[in-house]
Amino acid sequence: MPDDSLSVDRLYTITVILLDGQQHVVEFRRHAYNNLMELIVNELYENIGDCKGHAWCGTCHVEILTNETVAGETLTGEAVASEIQSGEILENAALNAPPIEPMTRDEVMTLGKLPNTVPSSRLACQIMVDELIDNAVFRVRGDVS
Ligand code: FES
Repeated sequence: MPDDSLSVDRLYTITVILLDGQQHVVEFRRHAYNNLMELIVNELYENIGDCKGHAWCGTCHVEILTNETVAGETLTGEAVASEIQSGEILENAALNAPPIEPMTRDEVMTLGKLPNTVPSSRLACQIMVDELIDNAVFRVRGDVS
């Protein structure tokens, strides 16, 4: 019997909290968008994605929340860069986040420059829209606090 768990017809769900605090549940099909930033822009009309997904601008900065919400500690860009270097931030993200793609070098550099990163920060443009983010909760943080 064929495995239909990855069928293109299957609907997945995420919750997105926008910059104004409004919370939205969004259903999507696997790879319906190139990345999470495009989904947020197209489905929720949030004004993010200035660099069109190149991981340069930081406007698509999101915090990944789970059922055990990540402590709302705000780190400076310098602290994030230091934590990324020590591997601590990736460990924290791994503990709290769904098993999505690892960060690229560009993503690490851009997050390291933002003033409002937290241990579970990611760039939405670097997150694929697939089964790995099913049921995840994302808070849009943008590039300012
Ligand atoms: S769209 Fe610019 S960093 Fe994601």
